[in-house]
Amino acid sequence: RARVAVLISGRGSNMAALLYAGRADDCPYEIALVSGDRPNAPGLTLAKAEGAPVVSLDARALGKSYWDALNDELEKASIDLIALAGFMRIIPTTFVERWAGRIVNIHPSLLPRYKGLHTQQQALDNGDKVSGATVHLVTPELDSGEILGQVEVAILPGDSAETLAGRVLIAEHQLYPRILARYAARPFEAKWIEEQVDALASKLPEVM
Ligand code: GAR
Repeated sequence: RARVAVLISGRGSNMAALLYAGRADDCPYEIALVSGDRPNAPGLTLAKAEGAPVVSLDARALGKSYWDALNDELEKASIDLIALAGFMRIIPTTFVERWAGRIVNIHPSLLPRYKGLHTQQQALDNGDKVSGATVHLVTPELDSGEILGQVEVAILPGDSAETLAGRVLIAEHQLYPRILARYAARPFEAKWIEEQVDALASKLPEVM
């Protein structure tokens, strides 16, 4: 199974959705690490209670060395994929390049509409009929990588940014595990095939 690290900054409800989905026998990924940038993020307490491996890092205290420290932890845990889940920190280009094609993010809008913050308020201000969420690959440019999956959520008359965000969050919890599972199956399958080929190749002299 692909080894996934979830990075969070706060509540961690998407992290929990990924963790619970990962407990199914047929899920192609497992949550091998939960970490983030704020040691007091409530989601870390939840992850610990659920028995997930947690590494607390304090980005403010570590300064520039934070990204190297995080990278060391990811390598130590043999991580295949990084899932950002409410991770509210801009990732430096060097880090994104080190993990190219291996970082996914969930964003609470139908990208390419409404990158950045306050997405539901913008959707309401524009009189949109639908909002939603997007899972996408992370590239150096914010909220702009390849879209892996989206879900629409209707906007109701009388919705506030908060009520709308609450329903979008329900949709996020459905979307993220499904899309991560689909994506995790790809590199994992490739790795499995490579291992089988290597194992066969090493036996060739015996067979011949
Ligand atoms: C989620 O709605 C997620 O889409 C959003 O933060 C929330 C985190 O909630 N992410 C972003 O805005 C990223 N730009 P959670 O901590 O309960 O998963």
